[in-house]
Amino acid sequence: MDGCILIIDFGSQYTQLIARRIRELKVYSEVYPFNKINKKLLSKIKPAGIILSGGPKSVLDKNSPFLSRIILDLNKPILGLCYGLQLLSKFFGGTVRKSLNREYGYSRIKIIAHSKILPNQWKKKNAINVWMSHGDHVEKIPKDFVVIAYSNNKIISFIENREKKIYGLQFHPEVQHTQNGKELLKKFIFSICKVRTNWILEDFISTKIKELKKLIGSKNVICGLSGGIDSSVTAYLLHKAIGKKLFCVFVDHGLMRSGEVNEVTNYFKSKFGRNFIHVEAKNFFLKKLKGISDPEKKRKIIGKNFIKIFEKEAKNISKAKYLAQGTLYPDIIESISFFGGPSAKIKSHHNVGGLPKKMGLTIVEPLRELFKDEVRLLGKKLKLNTQLINRHPFPGPGLAIRIPGAINNNKIKLLQQIDKIYVNFLKEKKLYQKIWQAFAILLPIKSVGVMGDERTFNYCCALRAVTSIDGMTADFYMFTKSEFTEISNRIINNVKGINRVLYDFTSKPPGTIEWE
Ligand code: XMP
Repeated sequence: MDGCILIIDFGSQYTQLIARRIRELKVYSEVYPFNKINKKLLSKIKPAGIILSGGPKSVLDKNSPFLSRIILDLNKPILGLCYGLQLLSKFFGGTVRKSLNREYGYSRIKIIAHSKILPNQWKKKNAINVWMSHGDHVEKIPKDFVVIAYSNNKIISFIENREKKIYGLQFHPEVQHTQNGKELLKKFIFSICKVRTNWILEDFISTKIKELKKLIGSKNVICGLSGGIDSSVTAYLLHKAIGKKLFCVFVDHGLMRSGEVNEVTNYFKSKFGRNFIHVEAKNFFLKKLKGISDPEKKRKIIGKNFIKIFEKEAKNISKAKYLAQGTLYPDIIESISFFGGPSAKIKSHHNVGGLPKKMGLTIVEPLRELFKDEVRLLGKKLKLNTQLINRHPFPGPGLAIRIPGAINNNKIKLLQQIDKIYVNFLKEKKLYQKIWQAFAILLPIKSVGVMGDERTFNYCCALRAVTSIDGMTADFYMFTKSEFTEISNRIINNVKGINRVLYDFTSKPPGTIEWE
């Protein structure tokens, strides 16, 4: 593709975010791990510019991911982010040190010199909010580089070599919390790399449909359909590609939100008719999860048993060879490393890290490079029901990962009641669409309360509401005092067994959105 941006992955949680920011700018990009870069690949991709991602390692450590000289020999513009900046500094003879003050989350930087990639909006500002996530920092910049900005902790935050068009940032412009970060990337791509727009979502649909048709041929596909946006869009896309060769299996694991099983069954039965299969497996999952309190174990048990059910169903469908899943990029990046790169594992998303090693079906994941908001857009283009498109994300392992500790039927029922009240409240107050995801967590703690002059000793629940674009980073949502009061009262007055409501004021990072 003409004018491709090559993103080299050094293991950052944000690598694919860089790719999608570039896609938002309608430019094609490809991501490769640092250790897969070779001359043959570079001559195939012919990048117009290169972005070096961040990463969890330290450039000061032995055997840490390295920067290959062949990248610099291309003489193309380079933008190094965080670890990428440190690699560039080390490579060109600067010094990198471990920081006493680690910077995670928001930081402020001050611009002291001009750069062609500075967003116009920054020019008149004294200090700019950026998103940092680093332990090391550049202490001395290499020869022929200049400092463009320092952070309020006096950390070198932005350097460049004007002649060579090499730029390094200690912060993450790809993260939505960096003010005008996308504008900075835009300047790098269009003004420095001189790339023209060459990527649109419609291209994704038509390319995927062609790919799926070719891959599947005369075989049949089973699609794990939960009714969430990801699996629904996967099913719609597959349906467009292969029509009646698609069989959607909806597994009721008993861990869905209140009323969801009926909603999903009614909607999809009318779309897929006899190719929609409803499997009732509530007791089966309850039994498998009995006494299990470790979050990773729960996730793996659910993942493994989902597959067992799909395999069993596949036996009833002739020529069923593939299992389609609505896996998205954030599911992958937090479970394993995309393209086999070096990123750290955060949790096993049920449909990725939870899969058994040996499986009778071949996995198909047409959305695995996309983010949630891109999938929503895709859903609109594929004409999915808007209510379904706008529903808050819901994890595959369902309420099991919102009940810390071992689960049981009573706890599930309690949580379903709380969740319903919470979500209805948000819809009624027109807050639902302002919030990216909201849900309740049933805590394994009982506390003393007083209701109607009587002592109570009941469970606590926590409420979570976050704003986000893609689930990779998130901010907690701030309700007003009267909203907090009303939600809390409604829950305590209507759910027998709950006498205390807590609120989760944690962003991601350092928290994750779900609790387990
Ligand atoms: P975390 O908790 O990793 O969640 O910050 C990011 C987004 O992913 C959803 N999530 C999952 N979705 N299977 C899924 O389909 C999973 O195992 C899973 N775990 C988390 C989560 O609800 C949030 O939207």
